[in-house]
Amino acid sequence: MNEIQEQIASCKDLKSLEAIRISMLGKKGYFAEQFAKMKSLPKDEKKDFAQKLNEEKEDFLNLFQVAKMKLEAIAIAEEMKEESVDVTLFNSKPTCGALHPVMATMDKIIEYFVSMNFSIEEGPLVEDDFHNFEALNLPKYHPARDMQDTFYFKDSMLLRTHTSPVQIRTMLNQKPPIRIISPGAVFRRDYDLTHTPMFHQVEGLVVDKTGAVSFANLKYILEDFLKYMFGDVRVRFRPSFFPFTEPSTEVDISCIFCKGSGCRVCSHTGWLEVLGSGVVDPNVFKAVELKDVSGYAFGLGVERFAMLLHRIPDLRSLFEGDLRLLEQFR
Ligand code: DAH
Repeated sequence: MNEIQEQIASCKDLKSLEAIRISMLGKKGYFAEQFAKMKSLPKDEKKDFAQKLNEEKEDFLNLFQVAKMKLEAIAIAEEMKEESVDVTLFNSKPTCGALHPVMATMDKIIEYFVSMNFSIEEGPLVEDDFHNFEALNLPKYHPARDMQDTFYFKDSMLLRTHTSPVQIRTMLNQKPPIRIISPGAVFRRDYDLTHTPMFHQVEGLVVDKTGAVSFANLKYILEDFLKYMFGDVRVRFRPSFFPFTEPSTEVDISCIFCKGSGCRVCSHTGWLEVLGSGVVDPNVFKAVELKDVSGYAFGLGVERFAMLLHRIPDLRSLFEGDLRLLEQFR
């Protein structure tokens, strides 16, 4: 019995315990064998022998039962470990996605201009020198080309540095009156708090017969647009320079954070620059061979608008794909 006790104690699983049970209680097992021996015993020894054997069997059954319970408990624990649910894993309940803040801002901008009867034009991201620079009154060696650091390919192809080349493509393909915006990605060799190598612009162009479009129209629409985007702000037009417009203006809104009293975001000026615009330069019309027309144009950076609208301090965070940022826009 001691031997059996040891065997049972060293059992690692229910299967080997069952093998022991069969070897003891089975038809050809130990106890069957012992009881069979009884037949050949003299009568007076039979009783003692049977009693001893029955005690032995009971002991075995007790040992077996205890071992079985232990091994069953271990098996269940192991099964539970395998099937357990890791509650730190992601939530399987589907959550709603949302538009990226840049795209949501783009949509809002487009919404305004479409409501003002502008149509949407797109152009290629890989441009040639003519559309991106030359026709926009930026001849080779013109110092204003330095305003934009360009990614070049071979054969004077390049990644467009602004959406203004779509102006040129549209004027070459359509007859005035033209009233378009062109949203899209642009590329520059820049990387810091407020610049990324890829960002988005919306270009605007309105062209009609000479005298039909004036700076006053430009001023009205941009003021109205900026109030639509930022609410109750003041708008100011500041003289500036762009090769493709004359006169050129940069457009500021009163700081939406300090309401114009001066803070860190507006560098204590009370104003935030948000747009470039102007009256189309005659040289641009010459490049696309349009005569007896006038027009205005504007261009804006969508990320700048998104950063102001959502108070995002670092432009780069918009492109890092960090879900913690994006989840805030759900
Ligand atoms: N293309 C200019 C830029 O990328 C933005 C711009 C300024 C566009 C004035 C215009 C404009 O059409 O009239 O900085």
